[in-house]
Formats: sequence, structure tokens, C-alpha cells
Amino acid sequence: MFGKDTKTPDPAVLSAQLAEIKDPRLDKTIGALGWLGELVVDAKRVRVDVCLPTPAWQNKSVLETQMREVLLPLVGGHQLEFAWSSKVERSRASSSTELLPTVKNLILLASGKGGVGKSTVATNVAAALAHRGAQVGLLDADIYGPSIPTMLGTDERPEVSGQRLVPIHRHGLRLMSIGFIVQAQDAMVWRGPMLVQALTQFMRDVDWGELDYLIIDMPPGTGDVQLTIAQSVKVSGAVLVSTPQDVALADVVRGKAMFDKTDIPTLGVVENMSYFVCGSCDARHEIFSSGGARRLAEKMDLPVLGEVPLDPEIRLASDSGKPVVLTHPHSASAQALFSVADQIASDLAVRAQAMTAKPTGLKIIQ
Ligand SMILES: Nc1ncnc2c1ncn2[C@@H]1O[C@H](COP(=O)(O)OP(=O)(O)OP(=O)(O)O)[C@@H](O)[C@H]1O
Ligand SMILES: [Mg+2]
Repeated sequence: MFGKDTKTPDPAVLSAQLAEIKDPRLDKTIGALGWLGELVVDAKRVRVDVCLPTPAWQNKSVLETQMREVLLPLVGGHQLEFAWSSKVERSRASSSTELLPTVKNLILLASGKGGVGKSTVATNVAAALAHRGAQVGLLDADIYGPSIPTMLGTDERPEVSGQRLVPIHRHGLRLMSIGFIVQAQDAMVWRGPMLVQALTQFMRDVDWGELDYLIIDMPPGTGDVQLTIAQSVKVSGAVLVSTPQDVALADVVRGKAMFDKTDIPTLGVVENMSYFVCGSCDARHEIFSSGGARRLAEKMDLPVLGEVPLDPEIRLASDSGKPVVLTHPHSASAQALFSVADQIASDLAVRAQAMTAKPTGLKIIQ
């Protein structure tokens, strides 16, 4: 079990043991997945390098616990250290006319109904993924009612560099919104073709750079914007946001039908304003009878990606220009939103893996 020096753990033995640990989501060993990097043993420490398919991998803490359990009996008095890294893979097909060639994953946050919290979920998911360490862009496709400038607290005008717009950098995100370019009332008079052109430009003529995730905050409904996006880019998946009322849930059915028709996979449903936790009594009040999205999603065979409470702090944070995952990261609301972000990123990593489908699993690192 140990090398020549009985006090020094043998890296080869440790690596072999670690390689047998299974990731519960993929049901494959981390050895087969190629996630184990270098294992360094010095006088005091054992350092394990692990490279995940996304910095938001849902099972990261489960894996760490398993690795500790396996290693602790083998490392004597050495201190255990994990060095985490990640390499996000592309989860969408490429095409020769691709408008966003440097974007690995493209996610739509959508709903048929207005005001259910698409922009709130989009900004928080984007900020959560950036906080985890990913390169993230957020595109406001709501030409008539842009929310991103307010929710992220900036109305800077983008600069132009070599014919391309430079996204605004804020809270670790790259942002683009019509709200940075024209006054809201000016965009209101735009007609369909202008709108389509503006949106196409936001994809083609913005210098997004290398992005692990580009999140598109969609306007409500099933109109021109949805069609333009579906026709001009390959989307990794759409996330439908709904409140628990029946009328909003009916829109989930319509939203899913629209994405099916345009060959965009629906990743799942987020139930927003799912319940309210009263500050004075700590009880959970199900104002709109929460869980409706869960029942519907089950019926439609869609995963529920999270239930986000109705929390005044979410709105206050958005109104003050900083998403709640950054202002109150430990609150129940922020935790729910982090979990939605982790689930989306992990689902996409699984899809990316299925797309490349190498017999030995993911080939990552070094
Ligand atoms: N979970 C929540 N708790 C409290 N307030 C929320 C929550 N989710 C959203 N809000 C608030 O509800 C309002 C509508 O949310 P948001 O703008 O995100 O919806 P939307 O679906 O993007 O609307 P639109 O269809 O107009 O684009 C905002 O004021 C937002 O701060
Ligand atoms: Mg919105």
C-alpha cells in the first residue's frame, strides 16, 4: 500500500483507488471518464487534481466526500488537498452558418406567459454559473421590454471594436441588451423585420469571445423572436419558467410544443414564486398551491429543475442591480437558484458527453 518509505503513500496506488469511484449521475468511474489529473505526494500533503465537465457539476461535493473516504485510510498523516478544474464541452451541433461559433452552450429561458420570472431566473442562473467559474454571457432578447440593464445595474453604452459590439462586463458576466443601445420607447415602435435584424446582430455582430454558456432571456410568448432564434442558431436547450397557477402551467405545454416544433430540446421547468416563507412565523405558505409544475412536468416527462420561493429579497436584489445569488448567496432563494444553475449545466455536460460519445468517456485535461 505504501512505497519504499513506509511514511510516503504511493501515488500509483492512490490513483488506482480513486479511479474506481463512480460518478452517480453518469454511472461511470472517474477513471473511465478521464477526470483524474495529476496526483502529487510530498512530505506533508497529497494533492489530487480533478477536472470536471463543468465547474457547476452537481455531484462535486458527493465526489469529494467519496474521494476523502477512499484516501483517508491510505495517506497516513498527510494532508489531503483537491485541486478542482473544469473543461466545459460543446452541447450543440455546429453548422457552417453558425452565428455564435465561440459559444459552447446556448440556453433559452422562456415562457409563454409574461411576468413569471424569466429575466429573474436568467440573470441569477447566469450569475451563479459565472460565480462557479464559468465564462458566461447573457443576451437580453426582450427587445420591447429589456430587463437586463436594470437587473444587472448598468446602462453603459457598448463600445464598437472593429465593426463589432463589445459586450458590457458586469458581475463577471458579458451582457448585451437593446436597452444599452436605444431608449425603451424607441424600440417600442420597431416592427417585426427590424426586431429580427436587431436580434440577429446581437448574435452575429457582438464580440462574445469564448463562452461556456450563453443564456438568452426571451420575451414572453411564441412569436418572431422565438422563431428567429430557432432558425438562426443551434440551441442546446430551453428552460421553461412558470408560476404554479394553472393558467401559467398551460403555457408550459404551449412552450414545450413550440420548442418541439423547432427541434429545440426542453431541458425542464423551473417553478418560480413556488411558495412563500413568512419572515415572522417561518412557515411555508403555498400561495398558488405549489408543486403544480412538478405534477405537470411529470405528466409531460420533463424534469423540474427547481422550485424558487416568492421572496421579496429576490425582487429587491434585482431592482438594485445585483442578482440575489450574489447579494444573499446563502439564502434559501439563492440556494434554489444555484441548484437550478448546477442542474442545467450538469444536464448539458451529460448531453455534450452523449454527443461526442467516445468509448472511453470524456477526454479531459493535461
Ligand atoms: N421568486 C420571486 N420572488 C419575488 N419576486 C420575484 C420572483 N421572481 C420574479 N420576481 C419579480 O417579479 C417581477 C417579474 O419578474 P421578471 O421580470 O423576471 O419576469 P419575466 O417573466 O421576465 O417578465 P416579462 O415577461 O415581462 O419579461 C420582477 O419585479 C421580479 O423582481
Ligand atoms: Mg423578462
